[in-house]
Amino acid sequence: MVARNLHFGRREPVRRKLNMNAIDLLEKQHKETLDLFEMLEKSKPGATRKQAFAKLKSSLLAHMVIEEEIFYPAVSAAQSAGESVAEGYEEHTGARGALERAGKALADEELFGVRIGVLAEMVKHHIKEERGEIFPRARKALGGELEELGDEMEARFEKAVKAASPAAKLNRMSTQRARAALENAGA
Ligand SMILES: [Fe+2]
Ligand SMILES: [Fe+2]
Repeated sequence: MVARNLHFGRREPVRRKLNMNAIDLLEKQHKETLDLFEMLEKSKPGATRKQAFAKLKSSLLAHMVIEEEIFYPAVSAAQSAGESVAEGYEEHTGARGALERAGKALADEELFGVRIGVLAEMVKHHIKEERGEIFPRARKALGGELEELGDEMEARFEKAVKAASPAAKLNRMSTQRARAALENAGA
């Protein structure tokens, strides 16, 4: 009897250790992204820049994957958030292009500064929109479901970071989903 209780006592905390609601998870990733931008904007061509940029690229792409595959559709389905979500997809497409261009200028002192600056501005604007438009709707519409979504998104994020899905395919997905979000809004 004693041994059984000990067994059950150990199991629960291990299973729930990743519990973070969907919005807290996205905000944590936003902060990490902004920190990486700050570092990259001050960086010089070389190994440290290359490493920091690779981290930015994989985590930003994976962040957009979990928003496009899980978070945005959940917000759209729960409430008519069509226009702000459709704008979100479009801004992701823009960010993917700017990310790609910055990656091609890693060795160029001046051009990289310009391109990473443009990307940082786009992402900062986008984060502001998510915070001001999408997150309040999500909180209102999804409430307690945000916990479960957070777990699902965290697991998907880990996979997407490893897979680093091809940007071209994701761009096509963005366009289709933006269209679907607008159709939902009009329905
Ligand atoms: Fe985001
Ligand atoms: Fe986003």
